[in-house]
Amino acid sequence: MRYDDETRRDILSRLSGFRLKHTLGCEKAARMLAQQYGEDEDKCAFAMLLHDITKTFSQEEQLNLCEKYGIIPNDVEKTEWKMLHGKTAAAIAADVYGAPPDVVHAISYHTTGCADMTLLDKIVYMADYIEENRSFDGVKTARKLAARNLDKALLYGLNSSLRDLIHRGKQIHVDTVLARNWLLEHM
Ligand SMILES: [Fe+2]
Ligand SMILES: [Fe+2]
Repeated sequence: MRYDDETRRDILSRLSGFRLKHTLGCEKAARMLAQQYGEDEDKCAFAMLLHDITKTFSQEEQLNLCEKYGIIPNDVEKTEWKMLHGKTAAAIAADVYGAPPDVVHAISYHTTGCADMTLLDKIVYMADYIEENRSFDGVKTARKLAARNLDKALLYGLNSSLRDLIHRGKQIHVDTVLARNWLLEHM
């Protein structure tokens, strides 16, 4: 795994403003969850540093990266193209930063969740959700749940995301439905 201080500085130099602040908040939250639930802290931090590395890219840039890395957007991703940032960030994490497959997987599904989520996947999803700069309704509840039971926190996050998408009249990514169904079966 290519993760050291120099890599960290390099990644952070590519971020600015809110995205930088959010990424640092995510890194801190992920390290805290990793300690609590027994996951590799550096892996969690590495995933968080890279998870939104393409978040500010335009639709054209996202689609160019999809082309370059053989990512085929599904129907929802074609419309909600900003969702592609997880997959394009994952591709860059692997290609440019030599991230291992489990870190790449966690980055890839940090927005939607997925079935069969690993502990690393769950930590990355939740750290993104509860990091200290978040201020949406319900974030305090999510933080409390995350401190007690990661699966309950994850279910809370998935439910809130689904409600929010429905409320805003948006399409729902199939992976979020699969994540919730799988979690209900396995928690
Ligand atoms: Fe993201
Ligand atoms: Fe994020």
